Amino acid sequence: MTSKNTSEKPWGGRFIRTTEHSVEKFTEPVSFDHRLYGFDIMGSIAHTRMLARVGVIEDSEAKTIIKGLESIAEDIESGEFEWRTELEDVHMNIESALVKRVGEVGKKLHTGRSRNDQVATDLRLYLREEVDQLQESLHKLMNALCDLAETEADSIMPGFTHLQVAQPVTFGHHLMAWFEMLKRDDERLLDCRRRINRMPLGAAALAGTSYPLDREYTAELLGFDEVAKNSMDAVSDRDFVIEFCATASIIMMHLSRFSEELILWINPMFGFIDIDDAYCTGSSIMPQKKNPDIPELVRGKTARVYGDLMGMLTLMKAQPLAYNRDNQEDKVALFDVVDTLHACISIYAEMVPAISVNRDSMMTAAKQGYATATDLADYLVKAGMAFRDAHEAVGKTVSYAIDKGKELSDLTLDELGQFCPNLDDGIYQYLELTGSVNARDIIGGTAPAQVRKAIASGREYLTK
Ligand code: ARG
Repeated sequence: MTSKNTSEKPWGGRFIRTTEHSVEKFTEPVSFDHRLYGFDIMGSIAHTRMLARVGVIEDSEAKTIIKGLESIAEDIESGEFEWRTELEDVHMNIESALVKRVGEVGKKLHTGRSRNDQVATDLRLYLREEVDQLQESLHKLMNALCDLAETEADSIMPGFTHLQVAQPVTFGHHLMAWFEMLKRDDERLLDCRRRINRMPLGAAALAGTSYPLDREYTAELLGFDEVAKNSMDAVSDRDFVIEFCATASIIMMHLSRFSEELILWINPMFGFIDIDDAYCTGSSIMPQKKNPDIPELVRGKTARVYGDLMGMLTLMKAQPLAYNRDNQEDKVALFDVVDTLHACISIYAEMVPAISVNRDSMMTAAKQGYATATDLADYLVKAGMAFRDAHEAVGKTVSYAIDKGKELSDLTLDELGQFCPNLDDGIYQYLELTGSVNARDIIGGTAPAQVRKAIASGREYLTK
């Protein structure tokens, strides 16, 4: 079966035979690239205004074209526009509708332009907008972390290394560690936006164009920071997509780390936190279950974002200059990354305020792992002992305490004195968890005072 429509295709002129339906079906991207329509039309309007400004088309022609494009946008918005596979992609669908609506003058829109620089422009406009929205929702999540950190600035929990109890920390401090990760992610998004925001239009198919286009003017209309400096590079490279996917992968990696911890903490064996019923789901067979599906799914979706990044790197690998149709596939990966990232960040921003904290369980767990052993060693060092000797002495003390089934702070001065000479009552304040965290009152430390400072500077970052 072949399509009758080859003549209708903007590139149909040199074709004698019509396109097989199977080929149309195989090559079309309109089923997914139609979501670029707003940016496609925005780019076309700017291009039209520029064409009129440099005198390639008449002002009246530009007006007609722009009106037509705007009416197409309205129809698409209201769902009245018919996307046609035989017109291949979003660009040709819109252009062909334009000609239908405004007549011959519509055919002038594509002057000095190719779908190659057009699609690269659309994609950059689209991604710039998505990055802005992603940052907005990332900021919501970061704010939610600050809020929770504020109420939990003094709550004590075990800090882990090797997932073994290491030293006591405040829960606020732990949450602000997450905040720091996201802050760097936010910086990365902003940084990659700089390289997204360069305009390919004017590169045409690959070599530039012989029309006297004012690229700077089009760039200004579209809010681009600059024009792409090499036409062949401009139409072919998708490194800005790769960079975005890499940034997204790092964000997902961070979210997967948070997820893993939430999953552990909600387990009754830890019992550190609970997540409101509204953000959990149950089991269809085990009535007692309340499962942390959101963190689990976020952890799972991390895999697919990494996959998209690998897909994009592989798509670009060894591609010769300039544009190749391979690049049509970039949208499949990019849209998936954008959608997944949006979904994960915004559900997290909603879920964090739904976390409730079981301070007693955290405290009990912190007490169980001899978490203040380092404090005892530090105390001995301050009293004049070399750190290695202090380490040894405290090691023996811990071993004794384990043997007796006691906490360090339960040991009498005499018991402590067997291994650690010259101690007085003052030591107990350091063996208490509160004393231990309060002592770490240094920039970046876990003391509640430092956590409050970190929150204040975090909030300041968010209001900038
Ligand atoms: N649909 C194409 C894409 O997504 C647009 C550019 C096609 N250019 C071409 N000469 N076939 O990449």
